[in-house]
Amino acid sequence: MASNGKVITCRAAVAYGPGQPLVVEQVQVDPPQKMEVRIKILFTSICHTDLSAWKGESEAQRAYPRILGHEASGVVESVGEGVIDMKEGDQVVPIFNGECGDCIYCKSSKKTNLCGKFRVNPFKSVMNSDGKVRFRNKDGIPIYHFLNTSTFSDYTVVDSACLVKIDPHAPLDKMTLLSCGVSTGLGAAWNTADVQTGETVAVFGLGAVGLAVVEGARTRGASKIIGVDINPEKRIKGKRFRKNHKCEAIGITDFINPKEIDVPVHEKIREMTEGGVHYSFECAGNMEVLREAFLCTHDGWGMAIVLGIHPTPTLLSLHPMELFDGRRIVASVFGDFKGKSQLPLFAKQCMAGVVKLDEFITHRLPFEKINEAFQLLLDGKSLRCLLHL
Ligand code: APR
Ligand code: ZN
Ligand code: ZN
Repeated sequence: MASNGKVITCRAAVAYGPGQPLVVEQVQVDPPQKMEVRIKILFTSICHTDLSAWKGESEAQRAYPRILGHEASGVVESVGEGVIDMKEGDQVVPIFNGECGDCIYCKSSKKTNLCGKFRVNPFKSVMNSDGKVRFRNKDGIPIYHFLNTSTFSDYTVVDSACLVKIDPHAPLDKMTLLSCGVSTGLGAAWNTADVQTGETVAVFGLGAVGLAVVEGARTRGASKIIGVDINPEKRIKGKRFRKNHKCEAIGITDFINPKEIDVPVHEKIREMTEGGVHYSFECAGNMEVLREAFLCTHDGWGMAIVLGIHPTPTLLSLHPMELFDGRRIVASVFGDFKGKSQLPLFAKQCMAGVVKLDEFITHRLPFEKINEAFQLLLDGKSLRCLLHL
């Protein structure tokens, strides 16, 4: 490609401060260094984690200017020295939770999907190899990276450990969802909980992440899937969300709006499930919700799984003695998928219709309208708004 080895000038949406509208402007993107890949982003969407970082309320370091975004898909533009598993034109999906394949974490086959070098680090805003950035704005000011990916840009540079090559025939628009939300939610049901036929599940927060958990539980044959959300519209969304070939609604089986009941949600769920669900999933990023999710599981064997991102400095309110009741609490990062080695198969399963992705894409907009897409998610109107670059 003509751009190989050269700086590329293109569009990006730059965050200049917490809560300030993103500025779509020209930026310069450096060529990839050793073990890095420069990709042309074709689709990107907005996840709640982008919202939290943009508002400055999450753990993420307040580094500005910064290019946010971590859910995307695209094609390889060029590769840096030493990259042998990808070449120009390959279809790829970036992953914020990388897999170098070399470190003790990556080599632990089943123990963890965290990577010693490229695990999620909200304080990181530069490239691993040299501690520098690959973006500059028109005034030559360096622009920081976000979550190993920075996808709100026509072109971005990522470490090859944070990029997954997928089937060349995969529909890239839908594959965007595998980059974060759907893999995170579905993987939490499949890998972290390992939901079995007939088991019961409660999902707190029915955004894309929560509904992906619902889909994961459904594909595993969960007998009861209770959706909990304070947005009443999610009752319909959750129920209609999935339809099988006979057009039967088979998403959530029950819905609870905490504002509409006069007992704590965990009490209601325990009553509905003869003592509590096998698994609960917290997908709202709210500490009180997390405590309800913990308590709504069955004693002896229940497991609460944290997927939401929680702002500092609040700590989890849990008396250590409560753990003697046999309820467990764990977190799930990227659905416990080892991204580089397991996502290609997951993409194929999605292509084969095991998991249907269409329902997650509720809106599509051109990239320039990114601030509008932020607003849609803020207002709870969209699951995923796909931005076309
Ligand atoms: N109780 C129940 N549901 C709640 C509550 C609450 N107190 N507060 C918010 N919710 C619901 C919202 O109404 C919304 O439907 O949680 C849902 C969150 O969905 P999205 O904003 O679409 O977020 P999503 O992208 O799905 O991410 C969910 O996972 O990755 C993390 O940082 C992310 O914490 C976020 C979570
Ligand atoms: Zn995300
Ligand atoms: Zn590693």
